Amino acid sequence: MSQSNLKAKMVVDKAFRIAEVDKRIYGSFIEHLGRAVYGGIYDPSHASADESGFRNDVKQLIQELQVPIIRYPGGNFVSGYNWEDGVGPVESRPKRLELAWKTVEPNEVGTNEFMKWAKEAGSEVMMAVNLGTRGIDAARNLIEYCNHPGNSYYSDLRKQHGASDPYNIKTWCLGNEMDGPWQIGHKTADEYGRLALETAKAMRQVDSSIELVACGSSNTGMPTFPEWEATTLDHTYEAVDYISLHQYYGNPTNNTADYLARSMDMDHFIHTVISTCDYIKAKKRSKKTMNLSFDEWNVWYHSNEADSKMDPWSIAPPQLEDVYNFEDALLVGSMLLTFLRHADRVKMACLAQLVNVIAPIMTEDGGRVWKQTIFYPYMHTSTFGRGVSLKPVVDSPKYDASDYTDVPYLDSAVVYDEENEYLTIFALNRHLSESLDLNCDVRSFEGYQIEEHIVLENDDLKAVNTADEEKVAPHRGGQSQLDDGMLTARLAKASWNVIRLRKA
Ligand code: AHR
Repeated sequence: MSQSNLKAKMVVDKAFRIAEVDKRIYGSFIEHLGRAVYGGIYDPSHASADESGFRNDVKQLIQELQVPIIRYPGGNFVSGYNWEDGVGPVESRPKRLELAWKTVEPNEVGTNEFMKWAKEAGSEVMMAVNLGTRGIDAARNLIEYCNHPGNSYYSDLRKQHGASDPYNIKTWCLGNEMDGPWQIGHKTADEYGRLALETAKAMRQVDSSIELVACGSSNTGMPTFPEWEATTLDHTYEAVDYISLHQYYGNPTNNTADYLARSMDMDHFIHTVISTCDYIKAKKRSKKTMNLSFDEWNVWYHSNEADSKMDPWSIAPPQLEDVYNFEDALLVGSMLLTFLRHADRVKMACLAQLVNVIAPIMTEDGGRVWKQTIFYPYMHTSTFGRGVSLKPVVDSPKYDASDYTDVPYLDSAVVYDEENEYLTIFALNRHLSESLDLNCDVRSFEGYQIEEHIVLENDDLKAVNTADEEKVAPHRGGQSQLDDGMLTARLAKASWNVIRLRKA
């Protein structure tokens, strides 16, 4: 290998453990929004539809991603949703005006259809309750419907609707983005904190085994951040298990170096929320440590203009259909690395969303399905990023972006799968014109060999995938070698790399 001018060093050691990765950080999200459900996962007239009307070709791609948990049914949608509209005989379900996205919700898919589908897709469900237009009563009835074994009004109703066994849904979100003025039933932090606490108590009275997520801030730019978290947790600290974080990024000014530094903002967000949780813990003299659920995150901006021109009140219009390019895949990769480095506190995260709506998977109504560029870093981390997250000690050259100074060109995370004796180094080169030579000390992994070096690269940062052509796809031709515990790898300019070592 000839030498690059850009060099970085890394030390990876078995002893530098951050925490076991909770596989639920590779979760995703399906909202009743746009063509996520209707025309996305569900299309009874499609050639690949199963007996319930769900597309098998879409299901197969979701299985390829190994999505452990899917948040449902919203999103902003949940804050106006009557869950009762979505159960019972389909022909008698009401069509409703859906106020959050200005569409018509046909309610052909509801709780029972979704639960059955999610099981087939290999995913658990993270169910959200409506704390916008509704509250304690609807939430306690829904959990009784879903989780109570039988011999009560709502559990018997579920049985009548064909689901004899309880779903035992473990994870529940107490509303969605209640800090946002756009939210139906938006609340102050005190109003929300009180309601979330009382709803949590009632839900736990129905099923004490559940885990609950309280709403944190909708993004770092909210004027109430991080006071919202402090007040909400002041009310709910002992009653909930997680606080949520949501964040989307975009590159409207077309400055890729600045754009790729956005994961620094995400890192800062996570640090601030951890500090706020720990402040409330100290204030309450609590023994409990609050964990984080980053249950909405992605790139979202490409579709804004098209959405602003959308006519209201149709069923499943193409909303939030971002077509992702190569640089988006790099930032998505970098955000995933951020979760891995915070494996001790970020226990769940949901790529928002999964199909058609700001999604890694796209469909044509009645037609083809394809993988967007962001599919790949998501799949690589979800499939290879399970085990113990190790802290890489990194010495990398840096650059200054408009919002962040000292942005390392090398972004990385490392996962050690002890059971199967794999070590996976995820490494992203943020430099847009130069390759980076990585020198990595892996001497504590005696007897390991390089299994593969996967690379996602493209000369065109704006390259996209379509149903006709997959321009952005990984290859296995990465250049790396391992001698006496020293790994050297060439990371191409602007590239996502997955270097996997395995005990020989
Ligand atoms: O994921 C799209 C929307 O983004 C969700 O409905 C909402 O929670 C967030 O603002």
